[in-house]
Amino acid sequence: MTEKKHLFGMRAEERERLLQSMRGAKPEPRRDVTPQYSPDLTNFATLPQYTQVQVEKAVCKKLGIEEPYYICHDGLSQEVAHINGRAYVNFSCYDYLGLNGDPRIMQAVQDALARYGVSASASRLTAGERPPHRALEEALAAIYGTEDCLCFVSGHGTNVSTIASVMGSRDVIFYDQASHNSLIMGAALSQAARFSYPNNDCDALEQSLRTHRASFQRAMIVTEGLFGMDGVITNLPRLLELKEQYACFLMVDEAHSLGTVGKYGHGVGEHFGIHKERVDIWMGTLSKTLCGCGGYIAGTKALIDILRYEAPGFVYSVGMPPLLACASLCALDCMEKEPWRVAAIQEKSQTMLSLAHEAGLDTGKADGYAVIPILVGDSVTCVLLAAMLKEEGILTLPIIYPGVQEGRARLRFFVSARHTDLQIKEAIATCAKLLPRARANAKRAAG
Ligand SMILES: Cc1ncc(COP(=O)(O)O)c(C=O)c1O
Repeated sequence: MTEKKHLFGMRAEERERLLQSMRGAKPEPRRDVTPQYSPDLTNFATLPQYTQVQVEKAVCKKLGIEEPYYICHDGLSQEVAHINGRAYVNFSCYDYLGLNGDPRIMQAVQDALARYGVSASASRLTAGERPPHRALEEALAAIYGTEDCLCFVSGHGTNVSTIASVMGSRDVIFYDQASHNSLIMGAALSQAARFSYPNNDCDALEQSLRTHRASFQRAMIVTEGLFGMDGVITNLPRLLELKEQYACFLMVDEAHSLGTVGKYGHGVGEHFGIHKERVDIWMGTLSKTLCGCGGYIAGTKALIDILRYEAPGFVYSVGMPPLLACASLCALDCMEKEPWRVAAIQEKSQTMLSLAHEAGLDTGKADGYAVIPILVGDSVTCVLLAAMLKEEGILTLPIIYPGVQEGRARLRFFVSARHTDLQIKEAIATCAKLLPRARANAKRAAG
C-alpha cells in the first residue's frame, strides 16, 4: 500500500519532524535504516536459469560431445551445410523450398540494398514505409484471400504482439499444447484466461469449450497449421466447426505450412479446401519458406488496422529492412511460379516418412510434410544420437526437455525440396543403425 500523503504532500514522518522543530524540541536525528540485502540478489550466476544452463553444458562434457547448439556455419543455410571446412547433409534448416541463396533472390536483395540501404531506421509509423513493405503484404494477403496483411520484424514478436493486442482480461484463449512458445507467450501477456488441450485433440477442446467458454466475453482458439515439433497437420475442419459453434476467433500459425502444405503451398486452408476467410487470423513467418526474417498476419481490414496502430511489436519496433521484404517477396513469387518445388518437398517428405517406418523408427503422428520427428525417448540418447549423426556428416537438431516432455525427446529432420533421395535414404539408414548404440551409451552414462 502506498503511504498516505498529508498537507503539502508531506509524509507523516517529515511532518512530525517539522512540528517538533516548531515546538522548539531538538529534532530526533534522522534514522535511515538500510535493509541488508544478500549480494546474491544482484548476481546473475545465482539464478536457477543459470544453473540449468550449466547442467546442460556439464552433461555434454560428461558425454564427451560438443554442444549441439549455436554451431557456427561457414556459409548459406541450405540442404548442405559447411562447418569448419566440412560438408554436412543438413536437416536442421528451414529452407523448405530450396530457395535460400537463389540468384533471383540475391539480385532482388542487391537491388533493394542499392535503393533503400539496410535499415528501416525506426518504426514504420514514424520513419515511414518503403514500397516493398506494402508489396509483400499485398502479395501475402492474396495468398490467403484476406482483405489485408501486416508484416512484423520478428515472427515470434508477431504472435506475442497480435494475441496480446486483441485479447484481454475478460477473455479466454484455448490453445493446442504443442503450440509454439510465441503463441503461448502472447496468450500469457494478454491476461486472458488460458486452457490448453492435448495436441490436435478436438474432443478435449470441445469439452473445454463446453465447460469454460460461457464464463468469458471473447474467446480465441490458437493452433499451428503444421505443428513444427510433431509434423502433424491440424484438424482445421473440426476447429472451424467448434469456433463457429462457440463464437471464437480462430488463429492459425502457418510458420511451417506455407510452402509445404497444399498443392501450391498455400497452407492448411488450401489442403482442406476451406474458405479461408473462415479463419480469423492467419499468421506465418518469413524466415522459413520465404528466406527472410519476420512474421505476418493476414485477416480483415479491421484486424490489420488494430495491429497497425496498437500492436506494441509493430508500433514500437523498427520496420523490417526493405531488402528483407524484397527477399521474401521474390521467394513468394518463385513459390507461385514453380509449384514443382512444393511437389518436390511433399514427395521427399513422404519418402522420408515411409523409410523411417520401414526402418522401425518412431515418427509419432507425423503426417509427412516437411517436419519428420524421430522420437527416441530420453534426452541423453537424443543428444548422443545427434552427435553420432554429425560425426557421419548428417546434421539434425536434438529436441529435448524442456522443449518437449521428458521421454518424448526427438531428432527433428526438416526436409528441403533440394534434398536428394539418396541423402534422405542414407540419413534414415544411419539413424536406424546408430540408435541402438546411442541407447546403450546413454544407459552406460546413466549407470
Ligand atoms: C510455429 C512457429 N511460430 C512462430 C515462430 C517464430 O518465428 P521466427 O523464428 O521467424 O521469429 C516459429 C519459429 O520457428 C515457429 O516454429
